Amino acid sequence: MEVKIGLFGLGTVGMGLLTILEEQKEKISENTGLELTVKTAMVTSLTKDRPGLSSTIQLTKDPKDILDDPEIDLVVEVAGGTGPAKNWIKSALASKKPVITANKDLIATAGEELLDLANKAQVPLLYEAAVAGGIPIIKTLREYFRTDTIRSLAGIVNGTTNYMLTQMADNDLSYGDALKKAQDLGFAEADPTNDVAGYDAAYKAIILARLVFGLEVGLQDIQITGIQKITDEDIAAVKALGGQLKLLFRIDQISANSVAVIVAPQVVLPQSPLSQVHNENNAIVVNSDNLGQTLFYGPGAGARPTAQAVLADILAAATTPKDAQQPLPEKQMTLASQRGQAYCWILNTTETTSVSQDTKDELRSLIVRQASHENSRLGSQLVLYTKEMSKDQHDVLLAALTTNRTLAKEFVIYPC
Ligand SMILES: NC(=O)c1ccc[n+]([C@@H]2O[C@H](COP(=O)([O-])OP(=O)(O)OC[C@H]3O[C@@H](n4cnc5c(N)ncnc54)[C@H](OP(=O)(O)O)[C@@H]3O)[C@@H](O)[C@H]2O)c1
Repeated sequence: MEVKIGLFGLGTVGMGLLTILEEQKEKISENTGLELTVKTAMVTSLTKDRPGLSSTIQLTKDPKDILDDPEIDLVVEVAGGTGPAKNWIKSALASKKPVITANKDLIATAGEELLDLANKAQVPLLYEAAVAGGIPIIKTLREYFRTDTIRSLAGIVNGTTNYMLTQMADNDLSYGDALKKAQDLGFAEADPTNDVAGYDAAYKAIILARLVFGLEVGLQDIQITGIQKITDEDIAAVKALGGQLKLLFRIDQISANSVAVIVAPQVVLPQSPLSQVHNENNAIVVNSDNLGQTLFYGPGAGARPTAQAVLADILAAATTPKDAQQPLPEKQMTLASQRGQAYCWILNTTETTSVSQDTKDELRSLIVRQASHENSRLGSQLVLYTKEMSKDQHDVLLAALTTNRTLAKEFVIYPC
């Protein structure tokens, strides 16, 4: 049976999809009996050079050529953005055409509305490629963990920032040099704000929090800290106590009906599986009642990994459309503030390199490790890792420690 696809976008992911559709043609046909054909592709420029593009694909700038074409069975949206893409998806669902998208911004910000429309229309809307590109995490969470109870999710879902922080740590690059290297290699865009400010990771966290906990939040609701203020000196100071800095998202169930969400550079200790995730790779740690801790690791982006996720969704929608539908979770949790956290403090000091008589025993017991670090610009620094503590304990201990010192940086420590 032939399945005709309407493709919105022929960039990195769109062209990647055409490549693997061609390569996997026979395998798909043998396994599923389906012949997947891209009939029409929508782009912004009809004159752009597109090497290798088959002349059988009709290019258009008019969405109606896809949405109003009764021959098109299924729509793939890999154009990006939250404006026109939303309308294309709504129209496709209204015409009962299954939709596959890689658009994390759109699924994060309008996913509830779009999934609701899809459920009402009883048509699949699938978005595996929107979170951690090549890691099949959405299907796994939705299907495999159906019989388990997830308590927390955390991980590295932005390859650009992980690449930059790895390069700063391993090759002593400055923030600027690491960003330039990431841009030269195509890991970072000319305007890297979405990545370095943490928004991209936050979009993915929002999608996962909805999928697993039924939490509906926007960027403005959650605590997001980017990596722009991290220096190579911060990384060296954190390293003095064995840790690494990584931009993590964390979603933690706090009570029966609330979860906390944070996106921030956090200290990852050597015993955490996330400490092994370097450069542009992604990983997600799931903690659940039956399985305990599981780690999902792989490429977070790129033409082939992302197109593979899109293709897997296309096959699911074309072969088992009913199973592929994604009802919104029944439980609707609310957003909680974080419970206790462990901290890494980097303190500028002229006094002493260790915490001694100036801190009461009770407070000192909250500190698990300390080391001195020589900052080339700021001079002597004291680096401390603390135990998990309440906000009140945090304030009291920090006030005691900063009587004769100043706080240079504070990071949360990821509890592994
Ligand atoms: N790249 C990755 O590794 C990756 C990974 C995961 C998810 N994603 C997501 O996948 C989507 C596509 O990413 P990409 O990297 O493939 O983007 P891209 O290389 O910039 O390609 C975008 C494509 O969409 C077309 N397009 C953009 N806006 C359009 C509009 N208003 N009307 C018609 N066509 C339009 C462009 O047309 P022209 O060719 O004429 O310019 C281009 O072909 C995004 O949502 C992105 O977040 C990407």
